[in-house]
Amino acid sequence: MIKAADQLAEEMLVSLLADAPEEYLGAEAICGKLGLPRAVIFRQIEGLRSKGYRIDARPVSGYRLLEVPDRLTSLELSPLLVTEELGRTVHFFEELESTNDQARELAEDGAAHGELVVAETQLRGRGRRGRAWFSVPGKNLTFSLVLRPRLSSARAAELTLAAGVALCEVLREASFDARIKWPNDLWIAERKVGGILTETASDQAGLRYAVLGIGLNVNGGQFPSELEKIATSLSLVRGEPVPRALLLAALLERLELWLERLQTDGLAEILQRCRSWSATLGRQVQVEATSPTGGTAESIDETGALLVRDQAGVLHRVTAGDVGLTS
Ligand code: BTN
Repeated sequence: MIKAADQLAEEMLVSLLADAPEEYLGAEAICGKLGLPRAVIFRQIEGLRSKGYRIDARPVSGYRLLEVPDRLTSLELSPLLVTEELGRTVHFFEELESTNDQARELAEDGAAHGELVVAETQLRGRGRRGRAWFSVPGKNLTFSLVLRPRLSSARAAELTLAAGVALCEVLREASFDARIKWPNDLWIAERKVGGILTETASDQAGLRYAVLGIGLNVNGGQFPSELEKIATSLSLVRGEPVPRALLLAALLERLELWLERLQTDGLAEILQRCRSWSATLGRQVQVEATSPTGGTAESIDETGALLVRDQAGVLHRVTAGDVGLTS
C-alpha cells in the first residue's frame, strides 16, 4: 500500500519531533530536514494538534513534542517500529466485528506478510473454541497479523507457541511475571491477561496464509462479573497505565524475531521458553479435548504437545484442547 504524501509528511514530522523529546526544533531546520515548505509544516502541526498531539511552539526556538495521544494508527506506531515487515502496513479501525475476520478478508485480497489490523473496539471479538473475546474499547490491544510464513500447514500450530513466547518475553522484560498457559493464554498472577487465536487457510500446495490474532488486556480495568476473578490487565497489575503504542511496537519486533527463528531454526528454543515460562507444568490440570483427561501437566514434548499423567500413571499426549488448572 503506497502512503499518501500528506500521511508520509505527518509521520516524518512526528518522528523528527519524537527523536528530540527535550529540544525545540526550529521551523527552518524542520523544513530543511523534511524538504517541505513552511506552510506545509504549519498545516501539519495544526493537523497533529487536532488529533491530540500536544506540541509546544515558541517564537524563536520552534516546536517541541510534549505528548502523543494514546492511539494506535500508523502515525503513532510507525515512528516506534523497528520491524522489517510486521506492522509496516497498518489497517486501523475505530470499530470492527473482529480483527481476525478483517485480516482474513485482506489476506484473501492479497495482503502481504506482516500487514496489521488494529481495532479500538471489536463488536464480535472471538476467542478459541467459539468463545467471545471481551475487551474494553480503546483501552487494550486487539490486533491481527496476516502471516505468510515458510511453514507447512502441519506446522501452523507452532505459530501460536512462537507468538506466546514473543509476547511473554516482552512482558517479562517489562518486569511482569508473565507466564504461558499452554497453548495460547498469557497469564500474570494466576489470571488471564491475553490470548492468541491463530487461524489458517491452506490448499493442496500448503499453507496459504495464517491470521495471528492477539488480545491483550492493557489498561482495561473492569471486567464483566464472569471474568472478574479470572482476568486481569497490565495496568491493574502495575498500578499505572501502560503506553499501548510502545507496547504494540515492542510486541511486533519480538514477534518478527521469534517467527523468523521458528522458520529458520525450528521449534526447540521456543519450546524451551514455553517450558520455563509455563503456568501449566507441574500443576494439576483438567483438559477439555476430544477425549477429556485430568492429571499432572508433566512436560511439553518436542512437537509442542502437552504431556499429562493421569492418576493411574498413564501419560496422555494432548495436541489441542482447553486446559483448566485445578491446583
Ligand atoms: C483466546 O484466548 O481464546 C484467544 C483470544 C484472541 C482474541 C483476539 S483479539 C484480536 C483478534 N480478533 C479476534 O476476534 N480475536 C483475536
